[in-house]
Amino acid sequence: MLIGVPKEPHTRESLVAATPDTVGKLIGLGYDVCVEKDAGLDASYLDEQYRQAGAQIVTKEQAWGADVVTCLDTPPDAELALVKAGATLVCRVDPDAHSSDVEVFSSMGITVLAMDAVPRISRAQSMDVRSSMANIAGYRAVVEAANAFGRLFTGQVTAAGKVPPATVYVIGAGVAGLAAIGTASSMGAVVKATDVRAAAAEQVASLGADFVEIPVKQTSSDGYARALSAEQEALSLKVYTRQAIESDIVVTTAQIPGKPAPLLITAEAVRQMKPGSVIVDMGASTGGNCELTRPGEVFRTENGVFIIGYTDLPGRLPGQASQLYGQNVVNFFALATPRKDGVLTLDMGDEVVRSMTVTLEGEILWPPPPVDVSAAPPPAPSGASEGGEEPDAPSSPRRTPPRWRRWKSLVPALCAAALFAWLVMAAPREMQSHFMVFALAVVVGFYVITNVTHSLHTPLMSVTNAISGIIVVGAVIGTAASGVWVQILAFVATVVASVNIFGGFAVTHRMLKMFQRS
Ligand code: NAI
Repeated sequence: MLIGVPKEPHTRESLVAATPDTVGKLIGLGYDVCVEKDAGLDASYLDEQYRQAGAQIVTKEQAWGADVVTCLDTPPDAELALVKAGATLVCRVDPDAHSSDVEVFSSMGITVLAMDAVPRISRAQSMDVRSSMANIAGYRAVVEAANAFGRLFTGQVTAAGKVPPATVYVIGAGVAGLAAIGTASSMGAVVKATDVRAAAAEQVASLGADFVEIPVKQTSSDGYARALSAEQEALSLKVYTRQAIESDIVVTTAQIPGKPAPLLITAEAVRQMKPGSVIVDMGASTGGNCELTRPGEVFRTENGVFIIGYTDLPGRLPGQASQLYGQNVVNFFALATPRKDGVLTLDMGDEVVRSMTVTLEGEILWPPPPVDVSAAPPPAPSGASEGGEEPDAPSSPRRTPPRWRRWKSLVPALCAAALFAWLVMAAPREMQSHFMVFALAVVVGFYVITNVTHSLHTPLMSVTNAISGIIVVGAVIGTAASGVWVQILAFVATVVASVNIFGGFAVTHRMLKMFQRS
């Protein structure tokens, strides 16, 4: 099959649906690929690079007339008319918001697969263009904020005086919000963030930011929030306003699927913000999280606050965004080309493929059945016996292992225990108390280490390494012995134990330095 990659017809779009790298991968799946002349120019991918990757460079008509066409968004009428009947179109569609487009696809007899309808389940993450683009957009939002902000992000102590770090407040810690938090933290700002989902607090903290509590704690199995009640909205607006007034930069990313962006920053809150502060409203294209946002524009309010309402943030990093979009497309083709033979095979029994299918050879299949995105494991089938005596229960992905298998996993532990008991009994009487100390040390060590958080394992190791100072003491005593071999061994033991002690502290020191702000 021939995959066509046209130049994006929407004038605002600088991305391209395939890069030379992803073209090579599509060819690896058995497809032929043709790319419209200059399709990747705005993203700095040249025709020559596509040619070297194995694509043919073709005219606009040829690219749109391929068996499968992949592009960014639903094309305008003129380009859509070039898609042949029976062809497949793979792009972002937003079918809920553009139901008239679905009718057009049906009348053309084409198959349309919506890249923006990939369900948010772990298996489909590698195809999720919304997450890829939101991630890039979150990064770029902070870069735009830094550009508009007339001061440094990182704090500094200079000969001319102390410079405080910028304070950044991110509302909505989803994909874009977490990317914004990570970027602002790495630039040296002091970052705070808020989300209505309780689970977001841990993710925010893991990126080094402070989680600001609001009086709403939603639990969500799909990572999406639900609309707030009027009372909850009023209470959280107070928190957002207070934080916005205290911050230099506010990045808003809150969204409720299928609804306009919730209002987070009122005109009154903007009026109270410091001159020179910046708001980046990532929800600009869906109504705006800030009351004053002008979609697609940057402007300065009367009190000197910059409000950035760009709706094309991924397009401001077109090279990287195209690569990620193209890789998402490749991952989808890999799923739909199981034999790597260049033939698109749409398995409607696969929930990912089914969720993306808007029309199949003209038949309207939208909306798809809901996908269970719950992270919770399915309940065990009732009536399954403990010993797993019902091997034909296909609906149970997690069956209790049979009893013999559980016993089998205990065999190495029992062998080790038997060996240890034999060693204790065979050893001279004066050594037996040492074994007792050893056994206790293993038990205590196990509980201490498993109860210490992972991020503190390195400092903990350096402290435990320092315990090998006991070896140095023993070795120094050993050097007083008469035998030359004992003295050599004692010397080697001293050197090795010293490396262990000082090396441990050196590694910890280096690690802690990585977390220190300058
Ligand atoms: P997401 O759904 O992963 O994250 C949104 C987060 O906002 C969720 O964690 C949700 O719990 C939270 N949230 C919802 N209502 C809230 C409230 N009232 N207060 C606090 N938190 C709230 O969405 P994603 O993918 O991160 O996208 C975020 C926004 O960025 C969307 O509006 C999207 O359209 C926009 N976007 C904008 C781009 C641009 O160029 N301007 C490009 C890509 C995405």
